[in-house]
Amino acid sequence: MPNHQSTKEQIKRTADIVQVIGQFVQLKKAGKNFMGLCPFHAEKAPSFTVSPDRQMFHCFGCKKGGDIFAFWMAYHGLSFLEALKDLAERYHIPITEAFSPSEEKKKSRLRETLLKINEMAALYFQRTLSDAETGNPAADYLKKRAISKEIISEFRLGYAPDKWDGLTHYLEGHKIELEKAGQAGLIIPKKGGGYYDRFRGRVMFPIFDLRGHVIGFGGRVLDTSLPKYLNTPETPVFHKGEFPYGLHASFKAIRQKGLVVIVEGYMDLLALRRHGLDEVVATLGTALTAEHVRKVKGYTKEAVVVFDSDEAGKDAALRSLPLFLNEGLPARAVVLPDGHDPDSFVNAEGLPKFLALLRDASSMFDFFLDQKLKEKGSGIERKVRILKEILPVLSQLRNAAQRSLYAGRLSERIGIKEEVVLSELKEIKKNLSSGALERDLTGRLTASKVEKKIGDFQLLNLLVHHPEAATRLKDADCGTLLSDAAALKIVEVIFEKYRREGRFSPENLEENFDNEEVRTCLREVMVADSIYSDQEVKQAIQEIEEKARQKRFADSVREVKGDPEALNRLLQKLKEQGPPNL
Ligand code: CTP
Ligand code: MN
Repeated sequence: MPNHQSTKEQIKRTADIVQVIGQFVQLKKAGKNFMGLCPFHAEKAPSFTVSPDRQMFHCFGCKKGGDIFAFWMAYHGLSFLEALKDLAERYHIPITEAFSPSEEKKKSRLRETLLKINEMAALYFQRTLSDAETGNPAADYLKKRAISKEIISEFRLGYAPDKWDGLTHYLEGHKIELEKAGQAGLIIPKKGGGYYDRFRGRVMFPIFDLRGHVIGFGGRVLDTSLPKYLNTPETPVFHKGEFPYGLHASFKAIRQKGLVVIVEGYMDLLALRRHGLDEVVATLGTALTAEHVRKVKGYTKEAVVVFDSDEAGKDAALRSLPLFLNEGLPARAVVLPDGHDPDSFVNAEGLPKFLALLRDASSMFDFFLDQKLKEKGSGIERKVRILKEILPVLSQLRNAAQRSLYAGRLSERIGIKEEVVLSELKEIKKNLSSGALERDLTGRLTASKVEKKIGDFQLLNLLVHHPEAATRLKDADCGTLLSDAAALKIVEVIFEKYRREGRFSPENLEENFDNEEVRTCLREVMVADSIYSDQEVKQAIQEIEEKARQKRFADSVREVKGDPEALNRLLQKLKEQGPPNL
C-alpha cells in the first residue's frame, strides 16, 4: 500500500507550518514558538502552540496536535488523503504514487464526489443566470435588489430555472450518478422512480468552505411565495452552522481590519460588500454557534454583530454573549432602526451611516444588561435572574482584571453591591471543575522551565532536545528510572532507532506511536523549550547515570535480601566497580 512518504516529506519541506496554520489562527511569537487561541476547543488564553523548529502544533488545553497534515485534517474535517491532495496542490508538489481505490477511504471518496457534483451544479446555475432568455427573471430580480455584476461573479450567484428537471437533466447529460446528486441534496427521488430538482425558480447562492469549495446552496424565490429561502439539507459535506457564509471571501479583509461584522442574511452580506464593506460574514438565519465564533476568531480581534430590531433578533443577541465570552472574542452589538436589516439600511442610508452605527455600538455585555433590565418582573426577581445567567459565564473568564471589570460594571448597572457580586463569583469559581484547573497547570508547567530535577519529563526533554545524549543514556539503561508508561515507550523507541540507525532525529518520531496518550506526551516534550542549556547537558547526563546506578544497586539489594551468599557476591562486585555515590 503506498503511503505517499515522498510526497509527504516534500510537502513538509516546502510548506511552513506557522504560515499554514497562521492563515486560520492568529499566532503570536512566544519564545521560539508561536501561540494562539485553539481552534479546536473553547479557550480565552492561548494554549495552542506551533513550533517552527519541529514543524508541529500542540494544544496544551485539548491535547490536539501533530504535523501540518494533522492540522489540515482536523481543521477542515478531512481524511489524510484529502489533506495530502489539498496541500500537494497548494504547494505544487506532484503526487507520485497512485491512489488505489482500496486505499481511498469510502467516506472521503464520497465527499469528493459530492463536491464535484456541487461544483457542476454551481456552474449550471451560473450559466442559467447569464442566459439572456432563461436567466432574465433572476437577473431582473438581482438588479432590483441592487446586486452588481461584480458581486454576482465573485459570489458565483446563479439561477435555478422554474422547471422540475433542469438540473436533473443536466447532470444526467454529464454522466453523473443521480443517486449521488441526491446525496448532495440537489435532487429528490420521485415515488415512482427517477428524480426531480430541489431548487426551482430560485436565485442560487453557493455556500463555500474555507478552501473555496461549494459545499451547499441557498435559493431565494423571486416573489413573496414561501418558503422564502430553501437550503441544502445536511449532507456529508454540508453542516448548517459550521461555516459563516462568506468567510472564504472575507478573511483577508477581516484580518487586515482586525474586525468582523456578523450579519444574518445572504442579501445583507452582499449589499454590504457592494457598498465596500468587505469584513463581513453571515450566519444564514441560524443562531450564532460556537463553531462560527471559533472560525472567525482566527482572523480578528473583535466582532460586531448586527441584529434585527425584532424580538427574535434581540433574543439571538442575548444568547450570543456567553459564546463570545467563552471564546474570548470581544464583541459589540448593533441594533438597527425598526424595520431595517443591513441590506435595506445600507441601500437606503449609505455606508457612512452604517459605519457610524458600528462605531457607536456598545459592548455585547452592556447590550445584554440593557435588554435584561428591560424585561418584565419585580426589581429583585430580575436582578437575581440576571446574576444567575451571567455569573457562571463571568466566572469562566481567566483574565482576573477582565473579570473584576465586568463584576464592577454589573454591580453598577443592576444596583447590587460590588462585594456581593464578587463573593458570589468566588463561590461559583470554587465549584468549577478541577479538570480545567489541572489543564491550566499542566500547560504552565510544561511550557516553562521548571526546577531541574530529573523526572520522566526532564529525561525525555533531554533526549529530544539533545539527541547526542542518547548513547550515554542508553548505556546507562536510564529507562529503569522512568515511572510513566508513555515516557518509557518513547524512550524505548528512541533507543531502538538509535541502535538500528546509529542516530535519530526527533522529527517524525510521532509516526511510531498509535497510542494517543503517548503521542500527546511526545508532542508536549517536543514543543517545550529545552530545560538544559548546552553547558548543562553533560552534568545532567552524569546525574542520570548516577541515579540509574543507584537504582540498580537498590534493586539488587532487594533481590539478594535474605540470601547471604548472593549479598556477598554483590558486595564483591561493587568492590571491583567502585561504590555508588550514595
Ligand atoms: N433563512 C432561511 N430560510 C428562511 C428564511 C431565512 O434559511 N425561510 C435564512 C437565510 O439565510 C436568510 C437569513 O435567514 O438570508 C435571514 O432571513 P431574513 O431576514 O428573513 O431574510 P433576508 O436575508 O432579509 O432576505 P431578503 O432580504 O432576501 O428578504
Ligand atoms: Mn433582507
